[in-house]
Amino acid sequence: MKINPETYSELACPTYILNETKLRRNLEIISRVSRLADVEIILAFKAYALWRTFPIFREYIGATTASSLNEARLGFEEFGAPTHTFSPAYEDSEIEEIARCSSHIVFNSMSQYERFREQVRQANRDISIGLRLNPEYSEVATLLYNPCAPGTRFGIASDKLPKKLPDDVKGFHIHCHCESGSDVFARTLKHFEARFSPWLEQVEWMNFGGGHLMTRKDYDIQNLIDILTGFRQRYPHLKIIMEPGSAFAWQTGELVSQIVDIVEHDGIKTAILNVSFTCHMPDCLEMPYQPEVRRAKIVDDTNARSPRVYRLGGNSCLSGDWMGYWQFDHDLQVGENIIFEDMLHYTTVKTNMFNGIPHPDIALLHADGELETLRRFTYEDYRSRMD
Ligand SMILES: Cc1ncc(COP(=O)(O)O)c(C=O)c1O
Repeated sequence: MKINPETYSELACPTYILNETKLRRNLEIISRVSRLADVEIILAFKAYALWRTFPIFREYIGATTASSLNEARLGFEEFGAPTHTFSPAYEDSEIEEIARCSSHIVFNSMSQYERFREQVRQANRDISIGLRLNPEYSEVATLLYNPCAPGTRFGIASDKLPKKLPDDVKGFHIHCHCESGSDVFARTLKHFEARFSPWLEQVEWMNFGGGHLMTRKDYDIQNLIDILTGFRQRYPHLKIIMEPGSAFAWQTGELVSQIVDIVEHDGIKTAILNVSFTCHMPDCLEMPYQPEVRRAKIVDDTNARSPRVYRLGGNSCLSGDWMGYWQFDHDLQVGENIIFEDMLHYTTVKTNMFNGIPHPDIALLHADGELETLRRFTYEDYRSRMD
């Protein structure tokens, strides 16, 4: 069906809409960085795993990164290439299958490495083994997203790393960014090299993790290319890998919902929607952050009772399943669309079916304006999760 991407007025049910043109724009930026800086940039499934769209990704990138057996299988079977895999802790029951689906496997601790090194090599003779390091430096202010906070469970600190690495350790992995700019990467690299440069001579590849938001409008791409080029000059033997997730799906689409009811209490109006923050936009509550809504302006709670100001409420039983406040340019009506901007990365992988609430459709908006529904969820999807 042809659709108006400004209003989506043709839609009658909640839908995540991936815009192919915007996705290709991101993929072009990413593949340009990859070419100019001579680094491999792979997709982190934790942020985006809509596998029906993988053929588009394959036009630009060659691999993905997984953090579980399911993601490793998705990469191997649906993306069509073995994954770079990292998990905080692998289990006996999964390690061989993970190894068969992976080109690279990263261990979070020396104990996991020692426990599984032989098994992974036996399951896959070509696999390349790496260790996750704790760079002991991160500028991520939100503790929930800071992998270097005191007591962290992620990575091996420099004082725990053997001076001479075992021969089968071929690479390192760090991840300490979150929606970060290239200036943060530059400062991180300084700290990282000061601590770990004696070991860098001993390995063949370096994975700088995710959180590099190179598709954000104000991101200094040339600075990133210069930083990576400088690093390559200092360590010419190292292959460089980056594994952003958000950057691929950044601002590539919306969650379109409809108003089901409008209620008022204590002078505060809430438009109740057929989507839920806790089910379909969980990062809004977890991070927390207030998403942009089309044709509305975010206002603070001193404006809660002003004209055309509303909370938006989810359709779950959780009392806190609401956010506010937005001021609209008109009085809201039951049945009209509420469009949440930039709702593709992390949302589509983190949704749940709490309360049995219907999952929004997932649709792809092609460049010619044609909307293709990739997936519609049914009662069977809810039922089959329960037992
Ligand atoms: C190990 C690792 N790699 C990559 C990513 C992707 O990060 P982002 O989506 O912020 O680019 C994450 C995010 O948590 C991560 O933990």
